Amino acid sequence: MATSPQPPFGFVAHLDQPDLLASTAVYRVGRGDERALPYCFDEVGVVVDTNRARHTLLECPHGCRHRSRELDQPGVYAPVDDAVRLEMLGPDLDPCDAPVRRDLVEDHTQRPIEPAVDVHAVHPGTVAQADRRPARTTIPAVIHEDALAAVGNTPLIRLSRFHSPGNLVAKIEYLNPAGSVKERIAVHMIDRAEEQGLLRPEGTIIEPTSGNTGAGLAMVGAVRGYRVICTVPDKVSAEKIALLRAYGAEVHVTPTDLLPDHPDSYYGIARRLTDEIEGAFNPNQYVNQFNPEAHYLTTGPELWDQTEGAIDVFVAGVGTGGTISGAGRYLKEQKPSVEIVGADPEGSIFTAETPEEIHQYRVEGVGEDFYPETLSRELIDRYIKVTDQESFDATRRLAREEGLLVGGSCGLAAHVALQVADEDHGKLVVVLLPDSGRGYLSKIWNDEWMAEHGFH
Ligand SMILES: Cc1ncc(COP(=O)(O)O)c(C=O)c1O
Repeated sequence: MATSPQPPFGFVAHLDQPDLLASTAVYRVGRGDERALPYCFDEVGVVVDTNRARHTLLECPHGCRHRSRELDQPGVYAPVDDAVRLEMLGPDLDPCDAPVRRDLVEDHTQRPIEPAVDVHAVHPGTVAQADRRPARTTIPAVIHEDALAAVGNTPLIRLSRFHSPGNLVAKIEYLNPAGSVKERIAVHMIDRAEEQGLLRPEGTIIEPTSGNTGAGLAMVGAVRGYRVICTVPDKVSAEKIALLRAYGAEVHVTPTDLLPDHPDSYYGIARRLTDEIEGAFNPNQYVNQFNPEAHYLTTGPELWDQTEGAIDVFVAGVGTGGTISGAGRYLKEQKPSVEIVGADPEGSIFTAETPEEIHQYRVEGVGEDFYPETLSRELIDRYIKVTDQESFDATRRLAREEGLLVGGSCGLAAHVALQVADEDHGKLVVVLLPDSGRGYLSKIWNDEWMAEHGFH
């Protein structure tokens, strides 16, 4: 790692009392140098109001800058609050009585953020080191009024054990309140349906879903008082079905191998119930343009902001195509050179060269046997085909090497991202991991199930 002999001036701030509710927080503030500072960054801690929020600016002596999202929004900059006591530390980080250089602190906090950042210049370990500070010190003390308000703003995590060059980063969608990326579209589609008068109080939401969209809709239904009915194919794991029922949704299980226009397929049953039940609304994630729009409005901007525009490649699995189309469109609008790569299970239509190549596969939630209207095919630069075995191998690796217990479609996307990240270590590749592995404990982590289906 290249180190500058004379790191630029900065403060390192350690939160002694990481309790955001404390009326006065004590910060130790010292001059960062390589000896005093084992990490490759200086941290300027800025307390705007200890009762409400703390905003942090990370500044790397090597010129890389990382910042919390809040800092680039106008109006959040503020001089250090008088209520905050700052103790100046010597180079060995022992407390000393030197007066606080408020002028310098304010200098840092008031300095405008430069837009473009060369994230590639960051040593793979740098951000991981920075992340050793208590996680909650960068979380604004916000109380959400309901679970729906907590959807989105999921973290990026560098997968440097899975892929040692360090240019592969994952967006962790299982940290959404109901555990998957699909809550983004559930909230947005229901918000829009309410606005358009398609869904009225005490109405019924009906959706054919492999589980995650259902969980998102069931969560919305629970919070807003709607009845929710999900139709699911019988390949969906027992845990996912139990989970929908736990949120109070009604679940109809149908044979997996029926074509979408068959009346008894999970699509067909959803269509029939929507016709029969008064006040029923079928969001229809395969057609509803508010599905990709949700990702255009949230996932895409988050990817852009969190990488400070350094993202070069975006990798995602494709089901409805909402994620890859919405986020992909936003990213290409910001930077047309961003490459959009679709990960596709072997047997799915997106990489099938002939209709005969379309067949069943075991990974859930991704791949299709038809082209959904929510997919903008022109945005996808290329697809990479992945076998079930490769998807499950990568899924297991993510749990064991990165401590990320994710679902099978995450392994599929990560397998592709690994290949793409290896093509050019100078490119920042971001892969979206849609859900949690907890929904698949009886499958991917069950050796008997794996053996029974020919996996090792
Ligand atoms: C587990 C899982 N991964 C990936 C996807 C694909 O996302 P999208 O439908 O936005 O293409 C889905 C969609 O249902 C999913 O359930």
